[in-house]
Amino acid sequence: MTSHNSLVSAPRVEQHTEPLGIGERTPRLSWQVQTGARGWRQRAYEIEAIGADSDRSWCSGRVESSDSVLVPWPGPPLQSRERVDVRVRVWGLDESDPMPWSEPTTVEAGLLDPDDWTATFVGSTEESDGDRPPVLLRREFAVRDGLVRARAYATACGVYELEINGARVGNEVLAPGWTSYSHRLRYQTYDVTDLIRPGANAVGGWLADGWWRGSYGWNRVGERYGARTGLTVQLELTYDDGSVDTVVTDRTWTWTTSPITRASIYDGERYDARLADPDWSRPGSVAGWSSVDELTPNVGALVAPIGPPVRRIEEVLPVAATRLDDGTYLLDFGQNLAGRLRLRVSGPAGTTVGLRHAEVLENGRLCTRPIRTAAAHDEYVLSGVGVETWEPRFTYHGFRYAEVSGWPGDLERGDVVAVVCHDDMAPAGEFTCSDPLLRRLHENVRWSMRGNFVSVPTDCPQRDERLGWTGDLQVFAPTAAYLYDSTGSIADWLADVDAETGPDGLVPLYVPHIETSFPQFHCAVWGDATTVVPLVLLERAGDLGPLTSGYETARAWVEGCRRLLDERNVISAGLQLGDWLDPAAPADRPQEARTDPYLVATAYLVHSARLLARQADLIGKTDDAAEYRDLADRVAAGFRREFVTGSGRCVSDTQTAYALLLCFDLLDDAAQRRHAGDRLARLVRDAEFRIGTGFAGTPLVLDALSESGHLEEAYRLLLEKGCPSWLYPVTMGATTIWERWDSLLPDGTVNPGNMTSFNHYALGAVADWMHRVVAGLAPAAPGYRSMLVRPQPGGGLTWAAARHRTPYGLAAVSWRREGTTLRVEVSVPPGCDATVALPGAGTVPVDAGHHMFEVAYRAAHDDPIEPLPAPHRF
Ligand code: BGC
Repeated sequence: MTSHNSLVSAPRVEQHTEPLGIGERTPRLSWQVQTGARGWRQRAYEIEAIGADSDRSWCSGRVESSDSVLVPWPGPPLQSRERVDVRVRVWGLDESDPMPWSEPTTVEAGLLDPDDWTATFVGSTEESDGDRPPVLLRREFAVRDGLVRARAYATACGVYELEINGARVGNEVLAPGWTSYSHRLRYQTYDVTDLIRPGANAVGGWLADGWWRGSYGWNRVGERYGARTGLTVQLELTYDDGSVDTVVTDRTWTWTTSPITRASIYDGERYDARLADPDWSRPGSVAGWSSVDELTPNVGALVAPIGPPVRRIEEVLPVAATRLDDGTYLLDFGQNLAGRLRLRVSGPAGTTVGLRHAEVLENGRLCTRPIRTAAAHDEYVLSGVGVETWEPRFTYHGFRYAEVSGWPGDLERGDVVAVVCHDDMAPAGEFTCSDPLLRRLHENVRWSMRGNFVSVPTDCPQRDERLGWTGDLQVFAPTAAYLYDSTGSIADWLADVDAETGPDGLVPLYVPHIETSFPQFHCAVWGDATTVVPLVLLERAGDLGPLTSGYETARAWVEGCRRLLDERNVISAGLQLGDWLDPAAPADRPQEARTDPYLVATAYLVHSARLLARQADLIGKTDDAAEYRDLADRVAAGFRREFVTGSGRCVSDTQTAYALLLCFDLLDDAAQRRHAGDRLARLVRDAEFRIGTGFAGTPLVLDALSESGHLEEAYRLLLEKGCPSWLYPVTMGATTIWERWDSLLPDGTVNPGNMTSFNHYALGAVADWMHRVVAGLAPAAPGYRSMLVRPQPGGGLTWAAARHRTPYGLAAVSWRREGTTLRVEVSVPPGCDATVALPGAGTVPVDAGHHMFEVAYRAAHDDPIEPLPAPHRF
């Protein structure tokens, strides 16, 4: 019997939200079942595909399998441009009839073969040094009657926006985004059918330097990928008789200068509305355009995106506007964010409105020192015609405050709006609890993720940096995977990590890699992104793909580290960043941590060799698995000889060292572990619960405490408000996670270090502990197919809750203390199960559905009471 109201979602295709122009020939499919049936499990599925424009249809037949996440494509590989409608139906374990078919998802392949491209890259004929203003490119074309479908495939060496007949194509920001262009350049696929009409049409593009040619990196070098920008567009028009007309970028295109007189990712944009021709992308005569040059830029493969594009996600109005003595307006958006401002203004032609951005104020004005050479300065020159609206196209800034100069008249609420821009990822995880400061901390983590998932997972969105530092994502990946459906974004970046890692296992410290003053070296914590992050995507999203494609990269990394070992099997020489930003390190020497950097590097090699062995097992490389397990054992033995006493004390007597010892399982036996855990708790208490960790220790220290029987110390550390601590910035008004524990000093002044961002997610990695330990929602099998529900109340919290959209559906845990009773509610998605382990009680296995429990409970500092033998279910 089929249960009532049970439904299967339309299949999801790989990690795409819009499977238009996908690059996978055999995309994996996922679906979710909605059912009220407790303990529901899938017995079988069937997938059917109907060719949308062809008779290439197929059906998988009934497949006996409980899998519903990223199942293999059961049909013939897609061909370029092929469109199929796929749908699925499933049988439950005890059901003889299938559920009704799902709604179909239309999957459309992109251009899968290099030969599909007939368009060339075209650009202006102007050659000049330095940042160059964006240009416009265009051509006209005729369309016959009977058009049924039109697609635009496009990308650029630079950043671009397309228009057809005066209308914007798509809504992406900063397309094609930043990738390792010499290996992979993403192209975009747009459905432009509705923009095209019979007769005369025009297509045009704005083309700016972006990451291709603009000057960026703190050394401000331009032309990193090439001296000329180029646009490529391939417009394919399909008619009802099956014929196809193709309009491509070639010598027939023309170019001219644009009203944008400067554009730079870091420095901002200047737009002179007096120079704008509103008809430039419409058919009809345009004057003064010149023929383009065809270019042969050095780009790697043109690839369809794996993740979502950057888009405008949200608008934020200022919470305060102050008119300063010099007539400028100081706007406070109440939230540090990444994006840009949109204006609505009217005034005399030639009036120039200036916009400057900063994260913090100093003496009542913008404090721009932390953004270093990034000018973050936009300007709009009014045309003088009516009400004008404008938002820069080819830049973004990290800011909470803005100064608006030259505003004609009075600035009204709504005249200037902040537009938050980042990867268009679906929100996936929430956390809340009874402590308002912890709630704010969690929101700050979310905002720092939003500020830094801008095409590449960056360190920061504001200063002259914004690079894909591998270490930052390595520590933040579990939190990222919880908060947003970010697998696509991360997998896209990992493809660049794979492309850029040398055969010697040298993983660039940031990817895409550009030359700066920073040397390249085998740096623990950073390069370990290659072993850690793919496993995070498997564990959290059930996606084995990045692990499979990245395995050789991870192996090369571990091999590279193995070559650093000395005869004692420890890493004892060479450059390391170690426990970067230990709060005790001098402001200008963040690598001078209390923990020995070679201890960090050797510990990480053990960890990574074990993770690699797990990866090898998962993809059937059993010989490798044995080899790397053996390597891990040998290095762990070397580590203990070098760094640990027989009793479990460590030569670096620091929070980070013990966190590594405990979380990476580097000790011999339980007695050593107990001693190390006690020693860590002692250090934490002696430090009066001030945090003592940098990048290496911060993601681990709370787990090390809670797993070694020191939950109360973990809570005290998490809830401490003095500097340095996680809540100190919250008490100082932070709305994002700071780079330094004290980016703002207790006296309210900005940290003098030359590296002081207020929007860096790395130290926000603690949110993962809040999800898993405070609320108690943790994955126990890939994609949360099994969950460990183990809330560990403490710290005086009276309630907490977490909700996460797993690939199987919504999982939720919440708990509340009522007197001496702890009430817990758990929701397990269909097809999944959970082990519920409540304080002072045994464990209970549960199936899909909603479950409620009660246990007798008192906080650690209360008098002990007799626990009930097992959680009481009702
Ligand atoms: C970045 C960091 C990065 C570090 C490594 C900094 O400039 O902002 O987040 O990981 O350098 O050296």
